[in-house]
Parts: sequence; C-alpha cells; structure tokens
Amino acid sequence: MENVRIVLYGVGAMGARIAKSLLKKKGVEIVGAIDIDKGKVGKDLGEILGTDQQLGIKVSNNPEDVFSKANADIVVHSTTSFLKQTYPQIVAVIKHGVNVVSTCEELSYPYATEPELAEKLDKLAREHSVTVLGTGINPGFLMDTLVITLTSVCQEIEQIKATRVMNAATRRVPFQKKIGAGLNINEFKERIETKTITGHVGLTQSIAMIANALKWKLDKIEADPVEPVIAETHVESEAVKVRPGQVAGLKQCARGIKEEKEVISLDFQAYVGAREEYDAIIIKGVPNVHEKIAPCIHGDSGTVAIVVNLIPTVMNATPGLVTMKDLSVLSAALGDMRDHFG
Ligand SMILES: NC(=O)c1ccc[n+]([C@@H]2O[C@H](COP(=O)([O-])OP(=O)(O)OC[C@H]3O[C@@H](n4cnc5c(N)ncnc54)[C@H](OP(=O)(O)O)[C@@H]3O)[C@@H](O)[C@H]2O)c1
Repeated sequence: MENVRIVLYGVGAMGARIAKSLLKKKGVEIVGAIDIDKGKVGKDLGEILGTDQQLGIKVSNNPEDVFSKANADIVVHSTTSFLKQTYPQIVAVIKHGVNVVSTCEELSYPYATEPELAEKLDKLAREHSVTVLGTGINPGFLMDTLVITLTSVCQEIEQIKATRVMNAATRRVPFQKKIGAGLNINEFKERIETKTITGHVGLTQSIAMIANALKWKLDKIEADPVEPVIAETHVESEAVKVRPGQVAGLKQCARGIKEEKEVISLDFQAYVGAREEYDAIIIKGVPNVHEKIAPCIHGDSGTVAIVVNLIPTVMNATPGLVTMKDLSVLSAALGDMRDHFG
C-alpha cells in the first residue's frame, strides 16, 4: 500500500501538534496545509511547527488549489468548534472525494444541534464515497464513547454520571483563553454573554450520543450557564498568570432528562490550579460501574492521538457521516499506518 496522503485543514495549536505526530509516523505523508491566519499563509509548514526543517509544504489559504493538486486520501480538520462555520469547509473537502477526520466539537454528534446540516453532510459524503467523522478527547471519547463502551457490561441502567476535572495550566493557549483563565469576573461574564469566549463545547453532543446509543428517548437536554471558577491562590503557567480573585477557568454541567428523571449528567471543570485531575464515570445499574482515571487524560495530547489513530478507521469505514458510536472497537494505530488497513 502507498503512504496515506494527508492534508491538514487548520494548522493552529491542534493542527500543529497533529502535524508533529504525523511526521514521526511511518506510512503517512503530509501533502498539503490550509489555514487563513495571515501569519501562517505562505510559510513553510516546518516553520509553523517551529522546526528548523523545511518540509516543502507551503501553508495555503486556497483549499481548491490544495485539493486539486494534493491527491489526498484524508483531511485532518481542526479550525473551529461550530458546525455552521465548518460546514462549507467540510463540503468542499467532500466534493474533492477526500475523507475527513475533524476536531470540530459540534460535528462529534451533529444531530444534537444541527440535524439538517448533518443530513446534508451524510448525503453528500455517501454520494462522493467518503467518510466524515468528528472526534477528539472531549467530545469524542471521555464523556461519551468511553461511557457508551462501559455500558456494555450493564444489564440495566438507571443513571449515568461523568465528571472531568482538569488543570488547564498544562493545556494549549487557545484552550486557556476559551475558559477565561486570567480574566476578572466581570470580563468573564461579559465575554461569555458576547460569546467572545465559548467555554467548553460538546456536553450536549455527548449526552445526545449516549442517549442514542442506549436508544433512550430524552425529553430534553439541559445545559446550565457556564460558571467561573475563582482562583484562591496565585497560579502561573508558561502562558497564563492568574492572581487570587481572578478567574482560573470554568465549570459547566448538563443533563439529559427522561420521564422527569436526570438519567445522564455530565460535569466538566477546567481551571488552572485544579488540585486533583480526573475522569470519572459512574453508572448506576446492574451491575454498578465506578471507573476513575486519575490524573485525567491530557486533552491536547489525547486529541492528537485519537485523531491520528482513527485515520485508518475512517478510511476503512462505510461512506457517510459517522459518529464515534458507529465505529467498531477502537484501538491505537501503532507503527506503520499501512498495517491498519484491510
Ligand atoms: N473534540 C475535542 O476534544 C477537541 C480537542 C481540541 C481542540 N478541539 C477544537 O479544535 C479546534 C481547533 O483547535 P485549536 O486549539 O487548534 O485552535 P486554533 O489554535 O485557534 O487553530 C485553528 C486554526 O484554524 C484557522 N482557521 C479558522 N478558520 C479557518 C478557515 N475557515 N479555513 C482555514 N483555517 C481556518 C485559524 O486561523 P485564525 O486564528 O486566523 O482564525 C487557526 O490558525 C477548536 O475548535 C477546538 O475547540 C476539539
């Protein structure tokens, strides 16, 4: 088998980390890079990655040009969180007959908030015989796919609760900005109201995916307003300094309600200085399941891994828009990527 030919669509914090991981792998080749950031367009990808090595791939802001020359098998897409914004980007990729694995949070289960766009993407992907998947560590794995996988050992299920607590000090800068680290409370509230910071995107998608896997018909999904977490002590990381009284990050909760009972609840907390970091899943059922991963899985590193590991899975999958719950048992794609096909 030939090398897997990959175009990076978005070479920000995640796209750059994914590129570095791909460069270490056998059986893959980066054949194009797309971004709209003026600071990146026209530069060699090696420069964007902060390496001395020129890779001979110029970052382009012209997707049509890239796809007409690249003969790509798959696009690794990491631009924004919202499907309305990413939709035209993904449509253009599909029309070139190229598969997509994306970190767009709303694409992880687009039927939750954008069912019409999801149907259109599915139809278009089938017509062009390609597969489109939205994934990542969260949404995409920790608070949905892993939960669904754990339900497979239950005969009955009454209630599911998943909690993720992470210390954002070790995360990428765009994430620290997204959770408001370093702002004062009024700035935080104003930016949440004006949507200049979004908080975590994906709890609704994760709940809808779990419910769909269990064939639970939810009456509604409720998401609480995003709450700031206030720093008690001075916390400093490479990118952010937070003084006591300032916002260290945020917490968000969402619930799936069925017959007036809270059957799924997700509790997400991300702030600099979190003392205990963990991912926990509690399933009240027969049998009960109590699973805890401590410290929690590193979000950036885990996202790079899941996106890269799923390249063969996406390329082998049935054409259409797929979600994580539609895939067979997942595993790392270690070693030469070409060994994971067929
Ligand atoms: N599901 C998960 O678990 C997971 C995990 C990590 C990240 N994510 C999501 O993945 C996305 C990327 O994250 P990030 O940290 O890499 O963000 P980032 O650093 O802001 O990078 C995104 C890059 O894409 C560029 N871009 C934006 N719109 C574009 C377009 N229409 N065409 C081409 N390039 C475009 C941006 O340029 P400008 O800066 O000029 O806009 C930027 O260079 C975010 O939405 C993030 O929330 C999801």
